[in-house]
Amino acid sequence: MTEIENRLPADHFDRALAADVRAGLSARPKTLPPKWFYDAEGSRLFERITELAEYYPTRAEAEILRTRAAELAGLTGARTLVELGSGSSEKTRLLLDALGEHGSLREFVPLDVSESALREAAEKIAIDYPGLGVHGVVGDFATDLGGLPGAAPRMLVFLGGTIGNLEPPARAEFLAGLRSVLEPGEWLLLGTDLVKDPAVLVPAYADAAGVTAEFNRNVLRVVNRELGADFEPESFEHHAVWDPDREWIEMRLRARRPMRVRIAGLGLDVEFAEGEELRTEVSAKFRRAGIEAELGAAGFTPVRYWTDREQRFAVTLARRA
Ligand code: AVJ
Repeated sequence: MTEIENRLPADHFDRALAADVRAGLSARPKTLPPKWFYDAEGSRLFERITELAEYYPTRAEAEILRTRAAELAGLTGARTLVELGSGSSEKTRLLLDALGEHGSLREFVPLDVSESALREAAEKIAIDYPGLGVHGVVGDFATDLGGLPGAAPRMLVFLGGTIGNLEPPARAEFLAGLRSVLEPGEWLLLGTDLVKDPAVLVPAYADAAGVTAEFNRNVLRVVNRELGADFEPESFEHHAVWDPDREWIEMRLRARRPMRVRIAGLGLDVEFAEGEELRTEVSAKFRRAGIEAELGAAGFTPVRYWTDREQRFAVTLARRA
């Protein structure tokens, strides 16, 4: 039983991208939000990133889920698994397998902004897990979480460390929003990358093969295609910078020479000075105390905190208070 519900207005992408690009390129310093990396090519590049030797988060998180999924199933007895973003991964299957074996699981609710990615993922899961209800929701996890389907207790799962793309105020708002759609006693499972030596962190975002650089420049290709802009992606250099005060990685694109970029779809011209940087992503890294404090402030009680053997990445199970 596969059902897909689309909660996004038909013109969602065009309007949101136009608003984000106009605001971000008019700001000082210039910024673009990371959510626009992920067209088909960007998603393919991200998949390649997860296979790089330097990019440890995906493997570290999978190790945690592999070793803890059975314990997690016993603790939560979740009947519904709601996965926010990234619908196709093997990590989802580790959780579905464990909850299935435990016997509580009835329904899988993947939520993603990409209808095609969601449909493909939902159909594959439905084939491999006969008897499991699959109810996909096409939506934005910042705005479309109200009235989520599925029997209680539900477990919301937000993996990969993607919460680190939000700055602290947006994180607080996001977590409070998750809390508000849950009933007391329901669950949140949150993946977070951890603070560590910059000699490990920086190469994870500036790999030797240049895959992350292409991923970063891909946002310019998306803006070119969708908004009729004339960015020359190769005229921007990829940089990954560790900010030790805010404890996050920033990805930037640095103009190799002075440029004027026309964004025809917005009727906007944007000037870049030589060396000027456009910030395209923050990826915050966490400490246990900070994760637990942020969860607590949003109305969650941390119940378990697991890391991989090398303590590079954490998965926290929390209960809606
Ligand atoms: C998918 C947001 C978790 O921040 O590590 C990978 C994206 N950016 N390399 C991350 C990303 C550069 C990734 N997340």
